[in-house]
Amino acid sequence: MTTDEITDLLTEAYVDELETVMNYLTNAIVLDGIHAEEVKESLEEDVQEELDHARMLGERLKQLEESPPGSESFEASQSSLQPPADTTDVRSVIDGVLEAEDEAIETYRALADAADDANDPVTEDVAVGILADEEAHLTEFRGFRKEFPTD
Ligand SMILES: [Fe+2]
Repeated sequence: MTTDEITDLLTEAYVDELETVMNYLTNAIVLDGIHAEEVKESLEEDVQEELDHARMLGERLKQLEESPPGSESFEASQSSLQPPADTTDVRSVIDGVLEAEDEAIETYRALADAADDANDPVTEDVAVGILADEEAHLTEFRGFRKEFPTD
């Protein structure tokens, strides 16, 4: 059965995915330079995956007789993923992605745990499936990060 904790986490994750879509799309468009190409391509692919995640979360909310939110309840939080003033600053975007993916992983772990506690295997399955995608994104961007040593 469902709990408020589950629907709250589904709603939070839905909003976070859509904010991620916006910031990954923006950064895929604005970055410049030879070091940016691979990162831009990866962000472009992830935009589609993150949108699919939002869709799955929204559909699960609907199945639980809740509605995913519209934009008026949206509160932006991804300050580290804002497009950089210097559009060749690929590292700042990579760091922003690592932070966003870490946060997403934390949310999906919490959702999987809450669903397990509430004996809601369908929500647990949604959370674990998305968690696997986010861990793959994190690994890919950790790899990109190795090319940009800290000053
Ligand atoms: Fe996602």
